[in-house]
Amino acid sequence: MTEQPTGVAGRTILIAGATGDSGRTVARALVAAGARVIAVGSDQGRVDALEAEIPGVVGEVADLTDGDDVLELAMRVHAGIGDVDGVIHLVGGWRGGGGIAGQTNEDYEFLARSFTALRYVSRAFYDDLVDSPAGRIAMVSSTTVASPTAGGANYTAVKAASESWMRSLAQGFAKADAPAAAVTFRVQSLAGLEDLLATSVVDLWSTDAADGRELNGSVVELTA
Ligand SMILES: NC(=O)c1ccc[n+]([C@@H]2O[C@H](COP(=O)([O-])OP(=O)(O)OC[C@H]3O[C@@H](n4cnc5c(N)ncnc54)[C@H](OP(=O)(O)O)[C@@H]3O)[C@@H](O)[C@H]2O)c1
Repeated sequence: MTEQPTGVAGRTILIAGATGDSGRTVARALVAAGARVIAVGSDQGRVDALEAEIPGVVGEVADLTDGDDVLELAMRVHAGIGDVDGVIHLVGGWRGGGGIAGQTNEDYEFLARSFTALRYVSRAFYDDLVDSPAGRIAMVSSTTVASPTAGGANYTAVKAASESWMRSLAQGFAKADAPAAAVTFRVQSLAGLEDLLATSVVDLWSTDAADGRELNGSVVELTA
């Protein structure tokens, strides 16, 4: 029997929302560990800057909240690079405050873009993850899902929906008996935890996690 490679080296990982602080830190760590990284953002200038900052990263511009844009992105990736082994979803943003009465539709629509992007990206690359010998998808949720506040009701509701979607992906992987894992990281604040997030992402492919079934469906709290 041929031995499967372990670790992240040689894997192809797509970072959805890669141009922020956390995305750049994750991209740098994945490239340093030998992964092929596809970094996606909606702004050409920020994607170009990321490619210049981290040699080896392949930048892609797409509006991940637009279903057609995501399908075109998947076609470009499949034609130019091939199937992906991992998706790290980092599209986010925060708006809130003002108690329940202050949970405006405008803020909700802004926040829901993160969930919309998760749905589009995970559906477009789902078959890749099932077929990969080490498929992984991860997102960053919030500790408020366990203890919601009135002022963060919109935000936490969107994160809870995203966590539910991740559990559905996990059930799909399990049903397909794929060695894949859908993992939710929870943080209170990412500020200062970017390196921990990056290490945790690289560790999704560690030798201990070689068979993703053990990680699949897990919620991992990241604390300083
Ligand atoms: N920051 C925190 O304290 C915190 C706490 C809990 C959870 N989280 C979660 O952790 C994740 C990362 O957080 P962050 O603060 O690093 O996020 P961020 O700085 O807001 O970065 C989000 C990334 O998504 C990209 N993006 C936004 N809209 C997009 C679109 N329509 N299409 C493609 N790319 C898009 C942004 O780049 P462009 O604008 O250039 O497209 C950026 O690269 C998010 O899911 C967030 O909700 C963060």
